[in-house]
Amino acid sequence: MTKSSVLTQRITLNNGYTMPRLGLGVWKTSNTDAANSVSQAIQHGYRMIDTAKQYGNEPGVGAGIQDGLLKAGLNRQDLFVTTKVLNGDQGYDSTLRAFEASLKQLRLHYVDLYLIHWPVDGKFIDTWRALEELYRNGQVRAIGISNFDQERLTELLDKTAITPMVNQMEFNPLNQEKDLRRLMQLAGIQLEAWSPLGGGAALSQPTITKLAAKYQRSAAQIILRWDYQHNIITIPKSTHVERIVANSQIADFTLSDEDVAAIDALDQGKRGLWYDDFTWHNPTNPKAFTGDVQAWDDTAKFLQK
Ligand code: A2P
Repeated sequence: MTKSSVLTQRITLNNGYTMPRLGLGVWKTSNTDAANSVSQAIQHGYRMIDTAKQYGNEPGVGAGIQDGLLKAGLNRQDLFVTTKVLNGDQGYDSTLRAFEASLKQLRLHYVDLYLIHWPVDGKFIDTWRALEELYRNGQVRAIGISNFDQERLTELLDKTAITPMVNQMEFNPLNQEKDLRRLMQLAGIQLEAWSPLGGGAALSQPTITKLAAKYQRSAAQIILRWDYQHNIITIPKSTHVERIVANSQIADFTLSDEDVAAIDALDQGKRGLWYDDFTWHNPTNPKAFTGDVQAWDDTAKFLQK
């Protein structure tokens, strides 16, 4: 890692706590792969890891954190760890219990950022109050939300005391959430992009591949640099160490204003199918409450008893 690496750069959140600008995402990653990619990422300079109970890999992530910190000669404070409340755990008391369980699986005493994974209607206000409690008690350094649209964010801001520090949304060149970002900017909420590469789909857009040729970079690096120039925090997922490393090598080139604008123009204003079809925030849908933890057959190997 060079001194100018983006991995050492941080953004100050609205409570004064700082968050790395780029981290590793581990959605759809088994415990074995998570343990390996988290450890490798830390050894290659990553200082932020993003998981969730829903991903079913907190035990593997916990093992990877322990291994990575040891091998890199780092301390817990050197790392920024995010996890999220599962839909099925939403509500005040159940969120507090879920948090304790996540800490145990992650082998941690605190997390840096705890997010409401989805805004389950009728529940997310109580869930937020639990996050406020954890924050006031010092068990989390920052609290935030994920997948909140304008309507639900407005309700949260109206009814609760603490403004979220972060909203983690699906964000990539094809889906830029321009209206939501305006509201978040007014409220002082940092955007963090999940699926910044569009699950891989944004990589083959002709505008992106042309810019990749122009700057002699990979398509992923072009997109991640564009996020960076917009001050958006990103968590690209990869289980391949060479991609994990390459995805962080975006400090030594700059996209021109014109090229940033060309990527801005790719916006189709469409969330992925997951959102349109998604009724998890509707409490009449049983999925809103069961939450669907991703099942991996290697979980038992990493579980903290
Ligand atoms: P893999 O894990 O096999 O590397 P997103 O973070 O937008 O959801 O994108 C993740 C997807 O993009 C994963 O399928 C990941 O695959 C792939 N990916 C991550 N980094 C790169 C890269 N540098 N080049 C190509 N594909 C990538």
